[in-house]
Amino acid sequence: MRPMPDQPLTETTARTVDPDAVRKFGLRVWTYKMGEQVSLMIHLGDRLGLYSTMAGAGPMTSDAVADATGLHERFVREWLYGQAAAGLLDHVDGTFELTDVGAEVLAHEADSLAFAVGAFRGGTEPAVVDQIAEAFRTGIGVTYEQQGPAAAAGLARMTGPWSRLALTSVILPGLDGVVAKLEAGASVVDVGCGGGVMLTTLAEAFPNATCVGYDPSAAAVALARERAATMGLTNVSFVEAGGEDLEPTGDVDFILTFDCLHDMAHPDRTATAIRRAIAPHGTWLIKDIRSSGDFETDNGHPLLALYYGFSVTSCLQSAMSEPDGMGLGTLGLHPARAEALVRDAGFESFVTHDFDDAANLYYEVRVN
Ligand SMILES: C[S@@+](CC[C@H](N)C(=O)[O-])C[C@H]1O[C@@H](n2cnc3c(N)ncnc32)[C@H](O)[C@@H]1O
Repeated sequence: MRPMPDQPLTETTARTVDPDAVRKFGLRVWTYKMGEQVSLMIHLGDRLGLYSTMAGAGPMTSDAVADATGLHERFVREWLYGQAAAGLLDHVDGTFELTDVGAEVLAHEADSLAFAVGAFRGGTEPAVVDQIAEAFRTGIGVTYEQQGPAAAAGLARMTGPWSRLALTSVILPGLDGVVAKLEAGASVVDVGCGGGVMLTTLAEAFPNATCVGYDPSAAAVALARERAATMGLTNVSFVEAGGEDLEPTGDVDFILTFDCLHDMAHPDRTATAIRRAIAPHGTWLIKDIRSSGDFETDNGHPLLALYYGFSVTSCLQSAMSEPDGMGLGTLGLHPARAEALVRDAGFESFVTHDFDDAANLYYEVRVN
């Protein structure tokens, strides 16, 4: 084992470094290791049905949790203490409780907008980590397809709550005339559709709409097709292609790019293709990560390092996966850049929406 952070780390070295400062810095670093371990525990809690068993059940002993889940009590007990140590379970008189608040974030996937566990998929495969490291040497990043089917499934689950629960109730009603068009039977294209959660939600809610999803990742498209088939939808189809490959039909009523322009090697080419595909009175809705474009301003955000982690391991990888990639990355499509991108492509109307989404902003774009 490595020394605990409060042990003097520098006494054996000849270098003159303030030991208190080293201890504090060491604690900060070990805290991230703790985050890695707690992340894995969250993944296990989800995977083994521990959170869903404890949600609404009140205080439980380790024996009761083990009985209810059919798991071995000794492992369950260690997990429970770890979760209590992490502040995710309450521990009182030898019992453990997942509070109602905690269950919104950890258990209620079907109907909680706060559900976060989809992001905890048990780590990145070592082979993908090797490819990411290699990208630092070559300058060429890893595509979403190369990140593998597990990454596509994890992403779909991570962005799922907002796609399933807020799209039709909050986001679409906030746009000018879009709901009426969808009800009447609009043509819809979802560019960068990933696992298709959003498009299948939309297709189910608006059976008169004709919906087509585009994504260059075969794994994502396979997932999306499977989802549509499971839901029994007949008004949705998927194409394995990038946004830059949209046909210049000039007749699409509603185009969406959710959480994907910053992942594209050439978002400008996609914007131009969207301009050629959209109907004269059509709407393009962009969802992208909140950022200011200035590190010092963004630096107050408590999860900023998480976003940079997503960027280096996923978004920037994809955005640099071609030799002349624009390389925006997770925080790269801030409002000013989004507006410049769409105006350069020939759109004149650009309206920003908040929709109370802590992580994203929404841009409603029209030709004029
Ligand atoms: C973070 S995921 C978002 C998926 C989905 N829109 C969502 O909100 O869950 C980004 C997606 O962009 C896709 N992508 C990358 N380059 C693209 C391109 N040039 N055109 C369209 N999609 C692209 C990736 O394959 C990936 O599925």
